[in-house]
Amino acid sequence: MMSHVPLLGLAVDHAKKEEEYFKPVFNAFDVSKKWIEDINPDAIILVYNDHASAFSLDLIPTFAIGCAAEFMPADEGFGRREVPIVPGYPELAWHIAQSTILDEFDITIVNKMDVDHGLTVPLSLMFGEPDEWPIPIIPLAVNVIQYPPPTGNRCLNLGKSIKRAVGSFPENKRVVIFGTGGMSHQLQGRRTGLINQEFDTNYLDKFGSAPEELAKIPHEDYLRLAGSEGIELVMWLVARGAMNERVREIHRHYHVPISNTAIGHLILENEI
Ligand code: DHB
Ligand code: FE
Repeated sequence: MMSHVPLLGLAVDHAKKEEEYFKPVFNAFDVSKKWIEDINPDAIILVYNDHASAFSLDLIPTFAIGCAAEFMPADEGFGRREVPIVPGYPELAWHIAQSTILDEFDITIVNKMDVDHGLTVPLSLMFGEPDEWPIPIIPLAVNVIQYPPPTGNRCLNLGKSIKRAVGSFPENKRVVIFGTGGMSHQLQGRRTGLINQEFDTNYLDKFGSAPEELAKIPHEDYLRLAGSEGIELVMWLVARGAMNERVREIHRHYHVPISNTAIGHLILENEI
């Protein structure tokens, strides 16, 4: 789980990682980079939100799964980030689409989609600046931009369905799921810059052990306590639902501020 602050993408792209402001955040991901390199998964399901880059008010899927062979980094107004094209995993993505839809989750199947900072910034944090991304990615976009976003409970249950889908894939694959976005932040209006460390810490504390409790948080509470963009945190619950009931915490990092938010980062592994 991790925030996806676009400023961190800029810091990577403009060689500013060593600057005092950014260094503690990038350093905290050294552990994470080693962790993912060691486990070397076959696929990453990356739960993120599109920020009106691939979708717009014309078309707003609540959940959308990228089934293409590759995804281009989106132009968010300043040209495409110069990061590698994102490799997909069509066989597994189509299997997850089929399994979750037959499990009564209405996911939109997307065969062409540009991916914005919501997806590429987490990749930069976890893999640095490689010539190619080392692991196939299945993008899973969640609408948290236009009201009404899905409830936390719906997200947690979708995660459980994704777990069943991966389990029923005919080949035995090692899959990591990223929940991205958050933590508390507000990018507009009078409360711009809102950060609620108490809310964030509680979320990090309960995430592994009591996700059902977090899944009950109503949208109004995210808005009041975590700011208008704090709702991005429901995406973490998709990832949590895809894991075992019991998990262990491998790594945690919380750092304030970066841009308008806090960087929250958790690595969990299934407890068997
Ligand atoms: C910021 C955070 C976001 O989640 C986002 O999508 C854009 C900007 C920020 O903190 O600046
Ligand atoms: Fe965002």
